[in-house]
Amino acid sequence: MKPSEIVRHLNQHVIGQEDAKKILSVAVYSHFKKTAQAKPDAVEMVKSNILLIGPTGTGKTLLCETLARILDVPFVTADATALAQTEYVGEEIEAILHRLLDRAEGDMQKAQRGIVFIDEVDKLKATSAQARGPSGERVQNALLKIMEGSPVRLNDGQYIDTTQVLFICGGAFVGLDNIMGKNHSFGFISTTESENQKILDRINSRVKPTDLYEFGIIPEFAGRLPIVARLQDLTRDMLVRIMVEPKNSIYRQFREILASEGVELLIEPPVFEQIAELAIEYKAGARSLRGIFEEMITPVVFLVPDNPAIKKVVIASLFEDAKYFGAPAAA
Ligand SMILES: Nc1ncnc2c1ncn2[C@@H]1O[C@H](COP(=O)(O)OP(=O)(O)OP(=O)(O)O)[C@@H](O)[C@H]1O
Ligand SMILES: [Mg+2]
Repeated sequence: MKPSEIVRHLNQHVIGQEDAKKILSVAVYSHFKKTAQAKPDAVEMVKSNILLIGPTGTGKTLLCETLARILDVPFVTADATALAQTEYVGEEIEAILHRLLDRAEGDMQKAQRGIVFIDEVDKLKATSAQARGPSGERVQNALLKIMEGSPVRLNDGQYIDTTQVLFICGGAFVGLDNIMGKNHSFGFISTTESENQKILDRINSRVKPTDLYEFGIIPEFAGRLPIVARLQDLTRDMLVRIMVEPKNSIYRQFREILASEGVELLIEPPVFEQIAELAIEYKAGARSLRGIFEEMITPVVFLVPDNPAIKKVVIASLFEDAKYFGAPAAA
């Protein structure tokens, strides 16, 4: 699959985040090329693991899950918080790699070219006050080895070599912006033209390894994630599109539910804007959309199945009751 084709597939489920989509699709495409054409005399390819950074509820996990579904490579996801809570980090990691082998249907060659997504790596930040469980830093150290590439013994005695496994790490990294704002030193280049300002903005919006150290990611760990993709806050417009456009958008889901009762659901555009406004206030990205939407739709879904005469429901505002239309004879 070409990078543009991967992006086209991602677009069906993930709204916006064009930069991250581009970076991911190119990385995955290159990963494929690097591992597929390993001729003996070929240029030695080095993999480039990826770090996905972005505010909560903006699509990090969704992007990776969608990617996993559309690609023909074994792909597993793991949660760093779970790793940080167990005493047996090594065994957990081994279990992740075992799942990769399962996804490859036991084909070791295929598994060794797979992709592992480790979510919530920002929860591994090294803090001095860690109450229980191994410290995040210990988990970072354990992950280092497999990200770098090393043979790992699985519990059935087989060895899996992770040299060619692509690692994608995701996390919200709350507070990183403050660290970045404080550290950037490219402010004194003379910027008379707007073009200069653009370049400056680009440099300043890059996450530097030193920013990650300050956050609590150990240098060796950050060093093994050379590619950083950032997801942006979702705008009101994007939030509206999220409710309507994706194949399994919440609007489509509820239209489907009511259609099964022979009822047409129509929600007018201003309603989505009202929901989006509220979601922005809740500061949880697209995550709050569902709650607000369901609260609005609950009375409708409660009422409709008891009233077969209703044929159509129209919602014109989040703050007004839905209007019901039925066959003329109905009460
Ligand atoms: N860009 C997007 N396009 C479409 N839907 C989105 C997008 N971002 C978020 N969503 C919706 O919000 C839900 C939560 O998003 P997701 O799990 O990807 O957040 P996240 O970035 O991983 O956040 P966290 O840092 O809290 O894990 C998704 O299941 C999806 O329904
Ligand atoms: Mg997530």
